[in-house]
Amino acid sequence: MKNFTFCTTKTIVIEKGGLSRIAEFVTSFNCKRVLVVTDKGVVAAGHYEKLAQHLSAANIKIFDYQDVGPDPSEQMVYSATELGTGNDIDCVVGIGGGSALDVAKAVSVIAKTKIRLDEIFGIEKVAGTRLPLILIPTTAGTGSEVTYSSVITASDGKKKVVISNKLYADVALLDVELTITMPTFVAATTGMDAIVHAIEAYTSVNKKNPISDMLSIEALRLLIGNVEKAVSKGDHWEAKSKMLLGAMLAGQAFSNASVSSIHGFAYPLGEMFHLSHGLTNALMLSPILKFNASAAAKEYGAIGKNLFEEVSGDSDEKATALFIKKIDQIIASLNLNKNLRDFGVKDQNVEELAKAAFSQERLNLNNPRKIGLEDALAIYQNAF
Ligand SMILES: NC(=O)c1ccc[n+]([C@@H]2O[C@H](COP(=O)([O-])OP(=O)(O)OC[C@H]3O[C@@H](n4cnc5c(N)ncnc54)[C@H](O)[C@@H]3O)[C@@H](O)[C@H]2O)c1
Ligand SMILES: [Fe+2]
Repeated sequence: MKNFTFCTTKTIVIEKGGLSRIAEFVTSFNCKRVLVVTDKGVVAAGHYEKLAQHLSAANIKIFDYQDVGPDPSEQMVYSATELGTGNDIDCVVGIGGGSALDVAKAVSVIAKTKIRLDEIFGIEKVAGTRLPLILIPTTAGTGSEVTYSSVITASDGKKKVVISNKLYADVALLDVELTITMPTFVAATTGMDAIVHAIEAYTSVNKKNPISDMLSIEALRLLIGNVEKAVSKGDHWEAKSKMLLGAMLAGQAFSNASVSSIHGFAYPLGEMFHLSHGLTNALMLSPILKFNASAAAKEYGAIGKNLFEEVSGDSDEKATALFIKKIDQIIASLNLNKNLRDFGVKDQNVEELAKAAFSQERLNLNNPRKIGLEDALAIYQNAF
């Protein structure tokens, strides 16, 4: 058997209404002055106010940075850090989708080490320690609450990633009540992001391992079985709970196994057209599954056989075909069966997109089928 190392977040709390326990976690680190990192949508949904009330009731001083935006920028990280260090904070709490959680992660490092982002973009470049970090997801999507990465848009407009085991939070607090207020489009697209995480972790060429495999299959069972219910019925607690759990398991899986070319092809769309991360993954998912199908029949077939009884005894090819068909059905039922041109992409953009996706080496290396520049062009043309 291949050697491998598996890392994850030390404490994961899954509790409906668990937000009320926030002060208990903050005080467990002897902290008294907290920076809360969030965004305006989460504030409007009422979640920030509840969090602040629980902290205040325990005499914990709060400073809040509410200006995180989609595809958060370096400047957001620095502004939040300045607010925190200027007020002598001793703990960072992130509450929100992946954007807020990624900023919180970077702030927890920079507030302590005074390091600059361009010194830590890349793999394991974070030296020193960070402030205690508690992450509370409000989307069932990125899994950022249990991953070792923080995705930040650098000043050159490129999405860059800080990857470090030091970014595993001290506590991930999953409270399904927070996800109930997600707008339908956010629920659908973040759900698709989670599905892509689990698929890509399961097919990752170099870094998949028995634990990430197990997590990916269970994540897919939860996500594929519940995404339509969770999105169509906003207050379907059981489906929403399973989505939140599934997204977290997928996060644990891909944080160890890596994602691959679906993300590699989604990133340039996000950078050039400012489309949300989940949407870009949903748009690229089916074209890349079809491109990979022959090379990944063993893995896609295993997913199909594990999830769908009707093909459990069939060939890998048949199980692969059914798996891809089910994914297409889900995308259609979530109203995400769209083309790139529906989102402002023009014919003449395809070449630039293909070059950008082709250069995502870290991700393409883990794709089950090798991708050449011509392939990249054809994949975007299929999605166009
Ligand atoms: N670090 C990681 O492991 C990782 C993994 C995948 C994606 N990402 C990054 O995460 C970001 C995307 O995160 P996201 O998809 O969760 O979206 P997001 O955090 O950008 O949030 C999207 C929108 O939904 C709103 N929202 C979120 N939760 C809500 C709720 N419960 N009620 C009402 N409104 C709510 C937000 O206010 C925002 O307007 C991207 O920058 C992506 O690159 C990070
Ligand atoms: Fe993702």
